[in-house]
Amino acid sequence: MQDEPLRYEALAEDLTGIIVTGNLRPGERLPSVRRLSRERRLSVSTVLQALHQLEDRGLVEARPQSGYFVRHAAARRAPPSARSTPEAPVPVDVSQRLMRVLQSSMQPGVAPLAAALPAAGLLPRAALQRLYGGVLRRHPRLLEAASHIHMDEPALVRQLVLRSLGWAGPLAASEFVITNSCTEALALCLRAVTQPGDTVAVESPAYYLMLQLLECLGLKALEIPTDPRSGMSIEALDLATRDSRVAACLLVPNASNPLGSIMPDEHKRRLARLTAERGVAVIEDDIYGDLHFAGERPWPIKAFDRAGNVMLCSSFSKCLSPALRIGFVAAGRYRAQLALQKTITSGGTNPITQQVLAEYLESGTYERHVRGLRRTYERQVDAMRAAVARHFPAATRITEPQGGFVLWVELPEDVDTSALYDRAIAAGVAYVPGELFSASGMYRNCLRINCGNPHTPDIEDAVRRLGGLMTGASPASQRN
Ligand SMILES: Cc1ncc(COP(=O)(O)O)c(C=O)c1O
Repeated sequence: MQDEPLRYEALAEDLTGIIVTGNLRPGERLPSVRRLSRERRLSVSTVLQALHQLEDRGLVEARPQSGYFVRHAAARRAPPSARSTPEAPVPVDVSQRLMRVLQSSMQPGVAPLAAALPAAGLLPRAALQRLYGGVLRRHPRLLEAASHIHMDEPALVRQLVLRSLGWAGPLAASEFVITNSCTEALALCLRAVTQPGDTVAVESPAYYLMLQLLECLGLKALEIPTDPRSGMSIEALDLATRDSRVAACLLVPNASNPLGSIMPDEHKRRLARLTAERGVAVIEDDIYGDLHFAGERPWPIKAFDRAGNVMLCSSFSKCLSPALRIGFVAAGRYRAQLALQKTITSGGTNPITQQVLAEYLESGTYERHVRGLRRTYERQVDAMRAAVARHFPAATRITEPQGGFVLWVELPEDVDTSALYDRAIAAGVAYVPGELFSASGMYRNCLRINCGNPHTPDIEDAVRRLGGLMTGASPASQRN
């Protein structure tokens, strides 16, 4: 692994930061190549290499004889990042509204576009069924000896260690705690490193469950601007942690929920270093890390952690089955606090399912299964993007996720997705209103759509009904 970025990469990252934080706006001209070369003490070809990288990312365009300009499409692709600086920390209050939304979305006959759940047909059900039977026959002791401290089945931990081999070097088996789901992993990490009243930096928009956890633990949310391509802004995090105490940073760097962004390695490296310097514990949710659409499996921030400061959390809910309820934390120097929290919360973790998972991973079929799943999710996300483009108001902006299976949709300003929710349920379609992804009530004109199901005619019809509702609510922007 390379520790220092190449010089052109460092320049490209700095320019990207200026654009995504809104300091250089669409249509504005970048400093000239000559000026950048002089001031940054770089050769002209290094500067050009950086600018070409920004062109590839769709952020800037070259205009003959005039220089480089921020593309308008860069803004279209970046719906939520209107702010360049974080808000002040705020208490969170989303839980009750969220529970109402999630409960109503589960009613029979309602199209499943709310919770981020994979369709049953995408899960390796037969293989898991066989393994459960086999494991119980071969290891009857698992039924007897379910000790309340069984939170690190060696066979499963070994598989997790092997899976980390590709990232800068394997994680240590002694770091792991096996949990009941990623939700439990995140809750334990927060409890291990925070006290009620503390501030936690989160992405904006943030996965609603994270806000709910902060609310229930009496923590304040500090919403950090987050780019739909590159994730949490490191510049804004730097600014936010310069003078105030932030106990933890909680984020989804790989295929974030809801934006689908993947943080570039260089940002991950900077985030790991910055947080270690400032004493901010990192809680990294990597649940979508295996579900990237292009290139190699993205590394987690943990791969860049030199201080044991990053807690890597994940589970098998998105790739194998949400019903397994098995997750894990590689907890770095917080392992002892985490094991204590786990013991007083739920004791151990189901030993039978730990063994089933260990054997599933040992069998070698996981890689093949996940390869197929990635392609399927990408197809479903593409189909949903096309359907939203067909049926929603013309000014609607849609993310281009780099992984996972949710879409974030920004509607014209006059559409209030919370106010429309009950009418959508009455029309047989669910979604998650955008304001539930913010502690400070932002994103009322946004919503998140689950693409975990095959894009059948029924789903297309549900999107059409939803689009009709949104278009009706926005007289100012009727489709032409
Ligand atoms: C980012 C993220 N983290 C965690 C979870 C919950 O995972 P689990 O089912 O393992 O609790 C989800 C599920 O939607 C998620 O999207």
